[in-house]
Parts: sequence; structure tokens; C-alpha cells
Amino acid sequence: MKICIFGAGYVGLVAAACFAESGNSVIAVDVDEARIEGLKQGIIPIYEPGLKEMVLRNQAEGRLSFTTDATAAVQSSLVSFIAVGTPPGEDGSADLKYVLGVAREIGRAMTGYKIIVDKSTVPVGTADKVRDALQEELTIRGVNLEFDVVSNPEFLKEGAAIDDFMKPDRVVIGTDNVRTAEIMKELYDPFMRKQNRMIVMDIRSAEMTKYAANAMLATRISFMNQIAGLCERMGADVAAVREGIGSDSRIGYDFLFPGPGYGGSCFPKDVKALIRTAEECSYDFMLLRAVEDVNERQKEVLADKLIRALGSPDEERPLTGRTIACWGLSFKPRTDDMREAPAITIIERLLDAGATVRAHDPEAIKEARKVFGDRIEYSHNQYEILENADALTVITDWSEYRNPDFDRIKAALKTPIIVDGRNLYKPDRMASAGFSYIPLGRCGATVCGEVK
Ligand SMILES: NC(=O)c1ccc[n+]([C@@H]2O[C@H](COP(=O)([O-])OP(=O)(O)OC[C@H]3O[C@@H](n4cnc5c(N)ncnc54)[C@H](O)[C@@H]3O)[C@@H](O)[C@H]2O)c1
Repeated sequence: MKICIFGAGYVGLVAAACFAESGNSVIAVDVDEARIEGLKQGIIPIYEPGLKEMVLRNQAEGRLSFTTDATAAVQSSLVSFIAVGTPPGEDGSADLKYVLGVAREIGRAMTGYKIIVDKSTVPVGTADKVRDALQEELTIRGVNLEFDVVSNPEFLKEGAAIDDFMKPDRVVIGTDNVRTAEIMKELYDPFMRKQNRMIVMDIRSAEMTKYAANAMLATRISFMNQIAGLCERMGADVAAVREGIGSDSRIGYDFLFPGPGYGGSCFPKDVKALIRTAEECSYDFMLLRAVEDVNERQKEVLADKLIRALGSPDEERPLTGRTIACWGLSFKPRTDDMREAPAITIIERLLDAGATVRAHDPEAIKEARKVFGDRIEYSHNQYEILENADALTVITDWSEYRNPDFDRIKAALKTPIIVDGRNLYKPDRMASAGFSYIPLGRCGATVCGEVK
């Protein structure tokens, strides 16, 4: 099938590569000329495991191409996907200017029947707005052309995006007619050879499904972060509690790890947008407001622990003269995405407290420079940043941090303090190795001594 995808970002580029991989002829369109120029030369603008190989292979075989020419892309495709950003507007609602901009471009370009598929995460009712924007352009042109708008929210996870796209748990299709449902089925059929995982529903329910999924996952994270906070104060171990509740099949183990708060390009903005959508229909989504408040508070927890361990909480800049080494900058492992990463809040707080900050990340240093510039030091060597630092804090759970050389860490640090935002290590082993180890919610597993 001939398709084009607007937006060559984390979602659009992965979708383009995977649709090409299954034999379709795919044109990826982006307004960012440098990005398209780079892609034409095989330079992949984001880090996503397996993506580079897949893009290069399909490009070489002529199934995947890149352009800034929206008109030509639309005219040669039956299906146009919209996979552009939907950042939060000033009031938290999803900003639809990029999505509706693409709808207008399609309206200006199309010359025959088209299917427009919204893959961006958009509030309920957006398909109607896409339809209106596109129809307006057709009316201006004075032409009468048929088209259908479909909602097809994307559930891929950065860091495992190719796998998620090639072997999806489900594909949600929101449509109001059988013809488009059949075409979408044809497009997605190669990704569900073992079992049909396509769920067809009305358009509004499909749009809501994406927000409901992210809101549920964010709720689990905030819930577990509060359980961890209570464990610290009550002398319990959150890791044991997770085992205890995760074994209940109604609850399950996933998304029950405490951490420095959720981040990334989706949960924070989607939680905000759903709260805003609720407000717009005079419905107070109290639960989700609490989820967001808990998350904002959680981003402060690692810095609080470092200040308690190293500084005098009463001083204005309690970490003056201290050096903190940070492992991990991206909002989660296996991605270079720094959008809304908890590391941003944590490091800003450490800098405000007067600390010198050194950071390591396997992939995100380039993106992190855009945020912190020269205000912190960076290294591609995870041990180098420890030399004479006063403490190490683990912010992102990259696999290279899971089983590090503890002798080397201890020898390098001025004081053997580790504040672990991902609970990667065993408290009793850390204690016997002579570390002052401060995880999240694990006082039942160690002598914690820093509970407030
Ligand atoms: N990143 C994720 O993990 C993820 C997962 C599921 C859903 N989503 C949703 O998918 C959407 C895209 O997210 P992303 O992370 O891929 O964004 P992104 O910022 O990585 O990419 C968006 C791209 O769209 C391009 N663009 C903007 N206007 C354009 C236009 N008129 N024509 C062509 N290209 C245009 C931008 O230049 C950019 O390259 C968002 O709504 C997001 O919420 C993201």
C-alpha cells in the first residue's frame, strides 16, 4: 500500500520504518529540513534500538523515502498518517496546531479519495476538527472530494518502539465506516500473524483509550511512589510490598516500581491534557490531579535525600562546595529523550543548592546539553565522574548501572554515599561493602536512618 506519514519523530519515524519493513511504500514527511536532509543521508535524528538498521535497509530497498514536499507525498498515497507533536498548551490542554496544520496541508494537496489517520495523541473530538479543517481547504479550492478520518492512537514505548510496533499488544482503530476498517486491517495484518489484536471502535472511544491508558499507568507510578514514601516512614520495604501485591493477578507486577517520578513526552502532557479535558466539561478529575501533584513532589525526593545526607537543610545553598555525580539523564533507559525527564528537576535543584554536578548517560548527553548547557559537566565514562565526588545518585536505570564495579565506585568517591532513585542494589550488600546506601522506600531492608 502507498502511505505517507507526517512527522519523522519518535512515533512517525518508527511507524514509517515498520510499515516499510512489511512491504508498503512509505514516504515520511517533516517540516524540519535538516532532519529530512540527514535522514536522506542515513543520519537518524533520535536514538531508538534497532531503528537505524531498519531505516537504512528499507531506504536502500526503495520502500522508504523522506521529503519536505507534503503535496507530492499526499498525492501519491492512499493513506496519510498524522504523527506530529501535540505539546501541552499554556492551560495544559493538547496544542493541536501541528495536527490541524497537517489536516489543512492534506486538504490543499489531495486530488482523490484519501484516508487520514490520526496517530498523534489527541483529545476526544479531534477527528471532527481534522475533518472540518480539511473540508475548509477543499471548500476554498472549490472541489468536492471524498475522505475519511480514522483514529489510530499509538502505544509504542520509547526504548522498545520497534518491538512494540512489530508485535503490538493491540492496535486500536476508531472509525465510523467499514471500508476504512478493512483498509486499516490490511495495513496492520502483517503485524498480527499469530493472533488478531485489532480492536475496532468508534472514533471518540479510540481517542479516549490512549489517554485512559497513559492516565492509568501514571496513576500506578504515583501510587507506588506514595507507598514507597510510607514504607520509609514505617520501616517497611517497598520491594517486598511490590512482590506481595504484584502476585495478585488483579494487580500484576508491571509499573509498580518507585522512582524519581514519571517523565517523558507522553505521561506528563497526557495527564495534564486529560485533566483539562475534564475541566472543559465541568468534571473534576480529582484522582488525576492528585497523580500529577504526587509526581511533581516525587521529582524533589532524590535532591531532598542528597541534601539531608550531605548538607545542612537550613542553609540557603546547603550543597555549596559539594560535587554530585549523576548516573542517567534521559527519562528512561534505551532512549535519548530528555523531555520532562526527572533529571531536569533533580539537577536544577542540586545546582540551586550550590552543588557542582557531573553527569553520565549512554545516549542522552547531546540532548542534555540543550537543557543544561555548560552548567554541568558531562562524561561518556560512568566512573570518571565519580572522582572526588561527594555522592553518586542513580536517576535512570540504564543496564550498565545495574551491576557496576562497587570497589571502583568506593575508591573514587570522597564519601561512599549512593542515593539510588531506581532501587538497583541490595541494601544489605551495600551496607556490608561500606556504603551509605539510600534507596527509595526500603527502610525495612536496611538500617535507613534518614527517615523524616
Ligand atoms: N514518543 C512516544 O513515546 C509516543 C508514544 C505514543 C504516542 N505519542 C504521540 O505521538 C505524537 C508524536 O510524538 P513524537 O514523540 O513522535 O514527537 P516528535 O516531537 O519526536 O516528532 C514530531 C515531528 O513532527 C514534525 N512536524 C511538525 N509539524 C509538521 C508538519 N506540519 N508536517 C510534517 N512534520 C511536522 C516535527 O518537525 C517533528 O519532527 C504525539 O502526539 C505524542 O503524544 C508519542
